[in-house]
Amino acid sequence: MISKDTIDRIMDATHIEEVIGEFVSLKKRGANHIGCCPFHNEKTPSFYVSPSKGIFKCFGCGKSGNAVGFLMDHEHYTYPEALRWLADKYHIQIEEEQLTEEQKERQTERDGLFHVSEFAQKYFADLLYNNELGRNIGLSYFHQRGLSDEIIKTFGLGYCLDEWDNFTTHARRNGYSDTVLEKTGLTIFKEDGKCYDRFRGRVMFPIFSISGRVLGFSGRILSKEKQAAKYVNSPDSDIYNKSHILYGLYQARNAIGKAEKCYLVEGNVDVVSMHQSGVCNTVASCGTSLTIEQIRLIKRYTPNVTVLYDGDSAGIKAALRAVNLLFEEGMHVRVVLFPDGEDPDSYAQKYGSTQLQDYLRDHEENFVQFKTRVLLEDVESDPIRKAEVLKEMVRTIALVPDMLERQEYVKQTAARLRASETILTQELAKTMAANAQKAWKEQQRNEQQPTPPAGQPQPPAPGQPSSGNADATPTPPSADQYSIVTGLNEDSSPTSLQITSQERTANDAILNDPTASRGGAGAEAQERHLVRLLITSGNKMILQEGIDDDGNPCPIELPLAEVVVDELSTNDLSFSNPVYQQIYTLYRDAVESGQPLPDANLFAQHPDGILRNTALTLMLTQYQISDQWRDKKHILVPSPETHLRRDLEETILTFKQKKVEHELEQNAFQIRSCTDPDDTVILMAQRKQLIQTWQAVCQKLGRVVV
Ligand code: CTP
Ligand code: MN
Repeated sequence: MISKDTIDRIMDATHIEEVIGEFVSLKKRGANHIGCCPFHNEKTPSFYVSPSKGIFKCFGCGKSGNAVGFLMDHEHYTYPEALRWLADKYHIQIEEEQLTEEQKERQTERDGLFHVSEFAQKYFADLLYNNELGRNIGLSYFHQRGLSDEIIKTFGLGYCLDEWDNFTTHARRNGYSDTVLEKTGLTIFKEDGKCYDRFRGRVMFPIFSISGRVLGFSGRILSKEKQAAKYVNSPDSDIYNKSHILYGLYQARNAIGKAEKCYLVEGNVDVVSMHQSGVCNTVASCGTSLTIEQIRLIKRYTPNVTVLYDGDSAGIKAALRAVNLLFEEGMHVRVVLFPDGEDPDSYAQKYGSTQLQDYLRDHEENFVQFKTRVLLEDVESDPIRKAEVLKEMVRTIALVPDMLERQEYVKQTAARLRASETILTQELAKTMAANAQKAWKEQQRNEQQPTPPAGQPQPPAPGQPSSGNADATPTPPSADQYSIVTGLNEDSSPTSLQITSQERTANDAILNDPTASRGGAGAEAQERHLVRLLITSGNKMILQEGIDDDGNPCPIELPLAEVVVDELSTNDLSFSNPVYQQIYTLYRDAVESGQPLPDANLFAQHPDGILRNTALTLMLTQYQISDQWRDKKHILVPSPETHLRRDLEETILTFKQKKVEHELEQNAFQIRSCTDPDDTVILMAQRKQLIQTWQAVCQKLGRVVV
């Protein structure tokens, strides 16, 4: 029991931004710090940490709390564990009150697993230097592989003696139970009651949690002849889940945040060796092929991953698989292949750290370069194989969530394979439609919901009951549901309530992914996005095509709000959501009367609570141009201005598209109920016009909305 007084002192010493900063890469934003929420999957930061209030709050998933709560949720600590962690960080002496017998008994098994793992790590590391066999066998092995004492210590490497149960005996003597020894897998118990050390005779690589607790081990065999596996890993347990951890992340996490990039390698030694060569932002998924959970771990620190695999066929295969998986998680992926037969460790040891770093720099390829290169080999002359390569490229591009990035990849692929960009785009649209349909069916199977979307984009047909395209796709939560998620309370600080994971996913899509908010999400998300653009960027200048005094086209710059008002009035478009229409009207009036545009103050003081809420929420949840575009190495980067212009253009186009779709539906209804043949002919002619308009808009959109 930690005394009340101690708890107070711990809480006083705690700076929440420092605590959370150890796990999440935070950036200062005004009085707060923001980052990507570690509790749910997101692409743009909606996780706020307030040093003055001592709390964190995620606008996306609704999680909130103080530093202790964070540690309990994030590290799965118990309350006392979290306090101890803080006490340790801030050097506060803990005054313990006497534990009752009952409390002692309640010491959890998990605690036991953590303790024995830490004990084992210390023991194995100690043997490396303070035991003759440890020195002669374990340490000399590491030295032979070119690892320094410093790096050995940084990674807590060790050696497990090659005796049946040396470690088990030592642990038992120190009071560790057979239960924890068995559950951590450190000891293997046979049916006849005999037991032995799982890792006997192996050099040990402890695996740390992000906060530096020992979770498990990889043990590498020393002898070459033995039939046994080269690596043995801890079995999954209450504290160790191999698909949820990355080897080296504890040591690499700060470097990853700083470099805004994570190198992903295949093996333990690769990580350690890269580190020793000064490339500290390196992790490995050991003993398992890359998983989504591991990608999400990386994503807490950076969206940029460079995959470093062997140049042999197994390495290429693994890299191709990793690229797809990373894309699906919205990561920005690059690849470095090492020469056949080399891995990052052997390369570093052979050529030294400068050459390694040069190699990494010079051989980094984006996915198009990498994939076309490995797929292309002597395909050029074979049209059938070339078509296959194109299809395969499209399959991967279809996984990229960001529309601009997709477009860029299409461009590059078309250029490299000397193929038509239009055809690639069409193929991409088809693939994405098919994927969406598959995903929908999957979801339907899980949830048994009605009406799948059409696999191909089709305007509403006259013969069909009029269900619009947009409505057939999974719908996001309505505006009401949404405002529950990030409403604002009296002092207009955002409140958050717990929401279901399904709502959260849809909510994420709207909040964080401007593409998703246009894709299948329907008019609501569409309108929301346009209003958001007005609120967050109404004053930003947008490059437009104008006409000079001589009647020739010339570029002119107009504030975004003016462009929007202009487009909407010319096309006679309005918002179907009355709140959005109200907000838009404020802007329109300002533009038309030449007054300054509405600002935060105006919205914050607006008497209409719903309008106020909506505007402030949109303001707080403004999306940003993601970091990907900053690294300008291999991808042609649109400037923020271009990004905004394209975004606006696409939003307005989609707006038009929705309107035409609505008219098509009405037309279909009229045709169905029309009895006069002459009128029908006119309606059919109108329909043809509308379809042409619709197709033109779709074409301009450059992709088809499912
Ligand atoms: N492996 C594993 N568990 C680990 C590390 C590796 O099961 N913790 C497996 C890998 O999946 C791979 C094999 O062991 O199939 C070899 O791993 P690799 O990292 O490629 O090691 P090598 O380079 O062959 O060997 P070294 O350790 O000497 O670098
Ligand atoms: Mn190796």
